[in-house]
Amino acid sequence: MKKITVIGTGYVGLVSGACFAEIGNRVICCDVDEQKIIKLRRGEIPIYEPGLSELVERNTKRDQLYFTTEVGEAIEASDIIYIAVGTPMSETGEADMRYVMSAAKKIGEHLNSHKIIVGKSTVPVGTGELVREVIQANKKLPWVGFDIVSNPEFLREGSAISDCMNMDRAVIGSDNPEAARLIGELHSPFNTRIFTTDLESAEMIKYAANTFLATKISFINAIANICERVGANVADVSEGMGLDSRIGSKFLQAGIGYGGSCFPKDTYALAHISDKAGYDFELLKSVIKTNQRQRYVIMDKLRETLGGLAGKHVAVLGLAFKPNTDDMRYAPSLTIIPELLKQGASVYAYDPIASEAAKRELPEGVTYSTSLDQAVAGADVAVILTEWDEIRSMDLSNIRKLMKRSILIDGRNCHSLQEAQEAGFEYHSIGRPPVNMSEPDRQSANF
Ligand code: UDX
Repeated sequence: MKKITVIGTGYVGLVSGACFAEIGNRVICCDVDEQKIIKLRRGEIPIYEPGLSELVERNTKRDQLYFTTEVGEAIEASDIIYIAVGTPMSETGEADMRYVMSAAKKIGEHLNSHKIIVGKSTVPVGTGELVREVIQANKKLPWVGFDIVSNPEFLREGSAISDCMNMDRAVIGSDNPEAARLIGELHSPFNTRIFTTDLESAEMIKYAANTFLATKISFINAIANICERVGANVADVSEGMGLDSRIGSKFLQAGIGYGGSCFPKDTYALAHISDKAGYDFELLKSVIKTNQRQRYVIMDKLRETLGGLAGKHVAVLGLAFKPNTDDMRYAPSLTIIPELLKQGASVYAYDPIASEAAKRELPEGVTYSTSLDQAVAGADVAVILTEWDEIRSMDLSNIRKLMKRSILIDGRNCHSLQEAQEAGFEYHSIGRPPVNMSEPDRQSANF
């Protein structure tokens, strides 16, 4: 059993803390947000993440997991301190390092015995060294030593617990082999491959991995746009490409672009890091641009099929940036819905989980439906923005009967062309041929 303190009870800190407790460590999760800590103590989880609530409850009950606002005391009580505070995108696109630096200062002030300080937050290369300097400068007990380790996280929202419990690899970066060994040992119950490297390379792996995945998505979205113009089907193209083991089939699902708390932030941050380092990462800048443009593909399809949006009833199905989460950060719906409203459409939105979170982000004027059926009733068009299971498995014939017109625009390719055909929908998806297209639409399309 190791004594671990996790600073920051955001998504990463909370999931990591609960998983470390689950494998038998004593974990203190701390945060400066008092309301959040009060709620966590009562077992109220601030985010929607399948399985997290049960994990927190079980480990709190068996005294493996604690929550506190007393960051200093929590630091003093542990041997391993994880920094898992947010590094949001600043106005310039760079990672905002304010919270990491204040955590480092606090660690210095409360360093009462030798500790391993582990960076979990995604941070620009070189941050580990900066953290070392800040801790050193704020130490009250000059003779006490510490080691710095980088251990980036690769969890996906919606499947974070199983990702953590069965991680592909644990990346551990440190200049001290003993500190790296101890953090490796901490991960051994996760039955994972430990990859050890230096501090800077570990920090870089996180950015390189996320921006590479984002690149795959923008690449397939660009291919999808070409497929539409030349009459190919991106689903088959993607499957055919993915069968090559050098390419792999994952993250080749065309759609309306990536969102969420990591890819948008990390792509911008790495573009900044490379500019600062004197390298113009043109490829990455194009990935970002392709992703921004991809959201408007839906608007183009709506314009083409409906002629104009003024006075039209648009049912928006799915609001979260992806299924199984209520996270709205950089969700395509945040771009598409304001645009629909601006063009005079009446928007009826449905999301199985994220409506409350969406209300805080979206402008006034959206009607939030409590069921799929309610959102589509009387609609001119239904637009799928998030591929929740409920939306994937909805009975298209039933949905069509409830609508005024039979037009479905699927931004996530979650229905088959045959299904749409059989249900009698005019169906437009991303990078696949349209189904039951009306004559004027057919003439205006590019193929
Ligand atoms: C991602 C990384 O996967 C994870 O390793 C990292 O730690 C955090 O960022 P997450 O943001 O939770 O995780 O979601 P992910 O499942 O990776 O999807 C990210 C975005 O890409 C979503 O908007 C999703 O809709 C989109 N996506 C994903 C696609 O458009 N196509 C795909 O093929 C895969």
